[in-house]
Amino acid sequence: MAQRLEGKKVAESVYSQILLDVSLLSVVPKLTVVLVGNDPASETYVRTKAKKCQSLGLQSETLHFPADVSEETLIQQIQTLNADPTTHGVLVQLPLPQHLNKHRIFEVLDPLKDVDGLTAANAGLLALGRPRFVPCTPLGVMEMLKFYGIDVAGKRAVILGRSDIVGKPMAQLLLNENATITVCHSRSRDVELICKEADVLVAALGKPKWVGPAMVKPGAVVIDVGIHRIHGHLCGDVDFEAVENQCQAISPVPGGVGPMTIAMLMKNLVLAASLQVKKKIKN
Ligand code: GUN
Repeated sequence: MAQRLEGKKVAESVYSQILLDVSLLSVVPKLTVVLVGNDPASETYVRTKAKKCQSLGLQSETLHFPADVSEETLIQQIQTLNADPTTHGVLVQLPLPQHLNKHRIFEVLDPLKDVDGLTAANAGLLALGRPRFVPCTPLGVMEMLKFYGIDVAGKRAVILGRSDIVGKPMAQLLLNENATITVCHSRSRDVELICKEADVLVAALGKPKWVGPAMVKPGAVVIDVGIHRIHGHLCGDVDFEAVENQCQAISPVPGGVGPMTIAMLMKNLVLAASLQVKKKIKN
């Protein structure tokens, strides 16, 4: 039987460490979330993040802007948060409405407050193999693999999806751990054949139950980053029931990668606060 990679369980161990780390800090870390518009999924994510901060004794604030807010207003807000010593981490909830250019927004964010790892400085550090703030979902996948003792060195890893927030940083992290990487995307050919060769398969393409048994090598480790609600039920990008038996290990949806994402956000927030404390001492 496949080992289930229970993100919920791994997250609990991360939170124990976070509580310890926070108790050694001279400040209470604060997360400020910038939310634009009324996307129900985004509103739920933001509420979950705020609740988690509260349960760990961390501070959080959500700045909610109307969907038609101007780019200039948001940029000014980010600059204010950059200069605010009481805010240690800034998260701009994605996706943003179409009229806003996320690159322009992330260009102004202080990389030391970038708990999502989306600024050029943090993405560049990861690409150089010197990670500082890494996007929370792929970071959570690595933490989960480590927790279950799954070593990826020398293995063939296939990532489905090339987003800036999951696919690309996932590839960098697995490469940094010496896996051999293939990234598949909407223009890739022979995706089924490529997947079938994967020792580690990460599905982050955003299509419900897209990965079926014909795409999974017997004994593979399958990580499901997707989350979809179909007829009131949650499922991932992988057809879990259909592929489970042929895997060495597989992450379920819900209860797999999802809880890890939020745990890594909390970890990044504590890291941000500690880097800012150190910087203040130096100055
Ligand atoms: N929207 C969905 N997931 C995320 C995330 O991890 N960070 C941000 N900023 N927005 C998201």
